[in-house]
Order: sequence, then structure tokens, then C-alpha cells
Amino acid sequence: MNEYEALCERLRALTEGVPHRVANLANAAALLYHTLPDLNWAGFYLMEGGRLVLGPFQGRPACIEIEVGRGVCGTAVREGETQLVPDVHLFPGHIACDSASNSEIVVPLRVGGEIVGVLDLDSPWPGRFGEEDRAGLEAFAAIVEDMLERCP
Ligand code: SME
Repeated sequence: MNEYEALCERLRALTEGVPHRVANLANAAALLYHTLPDLNWAGFYLMEGGRLVLGPFQGRPACIEIEVGRGVCGTAVREGETQLVPDVHLFPGHIACDSASNSEIVVPLRVGGEIVGVLDLDSPWPGRFGEEDRAGLEAFAAIVEDMLERCP
């Protein structure tokens, strides 16, 4: 079992039968942050009133609202696909919440075909995230999506 299969199994076990959306998102963020190496931020932004609003996370305090199309998170919503950014300093419009961040990956979350938020991970290491992380985090996000669907 690779590290993401193990993570997905732990997330399922943590959230199964738990009807509390915020509690589940908080545990998902904590699980990622304390399991994956070399992260300085892991958490969620959720769509609210047409923009992304900060949700449960682990790491330093972060910006609260992000417009669709802005930064890596807002671009993930606009494009409707994962943004894998090896060097955030080369990403036009990147929003620097923590100056320690050098690379980032953002996975959109969908419920009923609509984007309801994003999963966001930051690392101090340039190029920290690769294709294995993309696949693993998209599988992790699918479990979060199922949870969001059953915990409205
Ligand atoms: N860097 C993100 C903002 C959120 S923080 O990384 C927690 C962005 O450009 O959208």
C-alpha cells in the first residue's frame, strides 16, 4: 500500500458515519498535515457567495477570501482542474499567505457536478508535489467529496 492509499483508508475510517462536515474537514486537514512530509499548510477553502472562503486547515493563519480566478486556489476553481505548481513565485497572481511556501497543489472539490471548494497543500520545498501526489490527493479529495455530499 502506498502512502496515499494508507491516507485514504485512514480518512475513510475517521469520517465514516460522522455527520459533521466541519469536524470531518478539520480531521482531514490534520491527517494530511501530520502524515505527509515537508508541508507548511494543508486545508480547505469552501465556496460561499461566489468566492472561496477559508475553511478548516493546519498551518499559519491564511487569507480569508479568494476570488474565483485569483491565485492558485481561484485558478483551480476557474479551470475546474488540479493546479500543480512547482514554483509559486513563477505562478502569476499567486497569493502568498506564508512566505515559507515555495510549491503548492490545489485540487477542486465537486458535489453534484458543481465546484464547492478546494483542497490546498503548500510546501517550503520547490517541486515538492509531483504526479503521484496529484493522483493521491485527487483520490483523497474524492473521499472528501463523498463526505460533503452526505453532510450538507
Ligand atoms: N497560495 C494560495 C492561497 C492560499 S494559501 O496557500 C493557504 C493561492 O495562491 O491561491
